[in-house]
Amino acid sequence: MDYSYWDNYYSKMIATKEPTPFAKDILPMLETGKTLVELGCGNGRDSLFFAENNLRVVAIDQSHNAILNLQSSCSYDNIEFRVDDFIHSDVLMENSFDYVYSRFTLHSITEEEEGLLLHNVYHSLKKDGQFFIEVRSVKDEIFGLGEKVGRNAYFYNEHYRRFIVLEEIVQKLQAIGFKVNHMVEGNNYAVYKDENPVVIRVIAQKAV
Ligand SMILES: C[S@@+](CC[C@H](N)C(=O)[O-])C[C@H]1O[C@@H](n2cnc3c(N)ncnc32)[C@H](O)[C@@H]1O
Repeated sequence: MDYSYWDNYYSKMIATKEPTPFAKDILPMLETGKTLVELGCGNGRDSLFFAENNLRVVAIDQSHNAILNLQSSCSYDNIEFRVDDFIHSDVLMENSFDYVYSRFTLHSITEEEEGLLLHNVYHSLKKDGQFFIEVRSVKDEIFGLGEKVGRNAYFYNEHYRRFIVLEEIVQKLQAIGFKVNHMVEGNNYAVYKDENPVVIRVIAQKAV
């Protein structure tokens, strides 16, 4: 979804490389040397931050421009960049990762794709592995703007967003077998320039 929009966006190299508040906030929960896969890494700002903090990282994005820029500019040996569709990626093999990280990407995919992805993430995590999600909420002020293209989904500012209901995502994670250790919803978590979206953060653990 939105391949051209994101590929064009990352070709301009205008996005900040500063790690996000979400990445900085969860870093103390991550153990050095463990494996992390980022779903939809964009310009790699958070994946690079995790690699600089001694995690072993796989960073996936559908955008060739984003990944080619990263591959040509980064020489760390503890990070691998992949052009791939994170929903169906064969990187998400059974028991492969200690952590899966998804920031502002669950709202880029349809509800049907989300169902498949949540199962694939669960499958790819090691026992006790954790899934970190930050995503736009239905309570965000831009919810409802643009063309409605599905349930809670709008095409606005040239790209698709499907806003998330906290209780629904928690229920879906629990139904798969995740234990939800942390959930929060509000603004002031993802302030960027003049934007202060209402976001949901969830940390879920593969309990068995
Ligand atoms: C809003 S950006 C977020 C980027 C990054 N996580 C960040 O916070 O800076 C969404 C990213 O998800 C990627 N994306 C969306 N759907 C994807 C899919 N099915 N497979 C791989 N990447 C995808 C887009 O190319 C884009 O880079």
